Amino acid sequence: MLWDFGENNVFGDAAGDFRTSLGSIVKVIERFYPYVDGFQINHDAQTVHIHNGAVISTDPPYYDNIGYADLSDFFFGWMKGVLRATYPDLFGVLATPKAEELVATPCRHGGREAAESFFLSGMSTAIANLARQSSPHYPATVYYAFKQSEIAEDGISSAGWATFLQAVLHAGYAVVGTWPIRTELANRMRSQGSNALASSVVLVCRKRDENAEVMGRAEFIRVLKRELPPAIAELQAANIAPADMPQSAIGPGMGVFSRCKAVLEADDRPMTVKTALQLINRELDEYLGGVQGEFDPETRFAVTWFEQHGTEAGDFGTANSIATARGISVESVQHAGIAEAAAGRVRILERDEIDSGWDPSADTHVTVWECCQHLIRTLEHDGEHAAAVLLKQIGPVRADAAKDLAYCLYDVCTNKRRDAAEAVSYNGLIAVWAELTRQAAAIHDVRDDQQQVLDL
Ligand SMILES: C[S@@+](CC[C@H](N)C(=O)[O-])C[C@H]1O[C@@H](n2cnc3c(N)ncnc32)[C@H](O)[C@@H]1O
Repeated sequence: MLWDFGENNVFGDAAGDFRTSLGSIVKVIERFYPYVDGFQINHDAQTVHIHNGAVISTDPPYYDNIGYADLSDFFFGWMKGVLRATYPDLFGVLATPKAEELVATPCRHGGREAAESFFLSGMSTAIANLARQSSPHYPATVYYAFKQSEIAEDGISSAGWATFLQAVLHAGYAVVGTWPIRTELANRMRSQGSNALASSVVLVCRKRDENAEVMGRAEFIRVLKRELPPAIAELQAANIAPADMPQSAIGPGMGVFSRCKAVLEADDRPMTVKTALQLINRELDEYLGGVQGEFDPETRFAVTWFEQHGTEAGDFGTANSIATARGISVESVQHAGIAEAAAGRVRILERDEIDSGWDPSADTHVTVWECCQHLIRTLEHDGEHAAAVLLKQIGPVRADAAKDLAYCLYDVCTNKRRDAAEAVSYNGLIAVWAELTRQAAAIHDVRDDQQQVLDL
């Protein structure tokens, strides 16, 4: 076991202080109005009996994230002395039960593969047991918390997550939605300085139709291409932060995958969840890249240049061919105030280099790139209100395009350029988008009044 934080003084009058924590608990209890008695039982989820038709909401262990039983033993010894007489069944044993604990611990199972298969089969049994007894009329919700390192290494197709999803599908559930939620405080040690927003996902499941059919790989991809774009557009319209998008897109993607009995590969073997997740992610990438087609040519030039060079200088020849392919010249990108060309080298300007006194209504060559970069710069330097004023000046059509561009550039930063710091800026813009549009709508525009007088 390894601590990732230092214990603080419980009388320190700060976060973690005894009275502060007690105060938070009191606040919850004051707002809590249970209307039936609750009860709890302590049982292995693989064999537990619950009443038929129950509505399931469960927060199971996540692969190899935490060794609960080992951790519990640290406290168990101390609590035994005090509580044995009160709970003789619980505290009559030497240590907490380990054998049925559903965690993928290599040291307990003789290696990584054996640990994974123990976890997969145990979790399938547990979820199948719950699914059998659950109500067909209500969806079940299952929580999954990503480990930061697994997202960093493998993204949404990480071993833990794929194994977990596989277990849910084995249990006879179809996934009808995935929703990222913020369950962890942003000021936790491991969140600081990282771009991870939501690290937990709620899986919304329903029992799979017993007459579900088998689907081929090509058909699966075809249906993904048909169903994912409108679903992603809907998520964007709801201002889902770009960092949460890959996890949110799993829902509609897995909806397609788990709707049928199996998706078969060309050699008739069932497609793994890991492959399905990779295909879903590829479609998301294609969608975000495809949006570029709707931007002005200068912005499309800047996106391609940024993908290849970031804000570094590159050859004029290369820049010229990118520009020509978009039906413009490098001069046109320069004229738009996006790039600089000198001595046979071209580069796009850093955000802090673009004209700080920019006025979109006076600019005769406004591009989506500028709108997006100016919005971020204003937001980061001058705050939300100033950014909302700019949003209003930019107007709704260009604002929507700037938002699409932020999604697209976030994807470029995380998947192609691996530039986490720059990705934070695009994510930050979308994270406050709803608030900016709300403030922009409330800004009283003198020109509107003047127009109304003229209309009268
Ligand atoms: C993610 S934690 C749940 C945390 C809980 N929601 C909370 O906020 O305190 C997963 C829990 O599943 C328990 N667990 C592990 N194997 C189990 C099994 N076979 N049956 C029932 N519970 C199990 C672990 O001991 C752990 O307490």
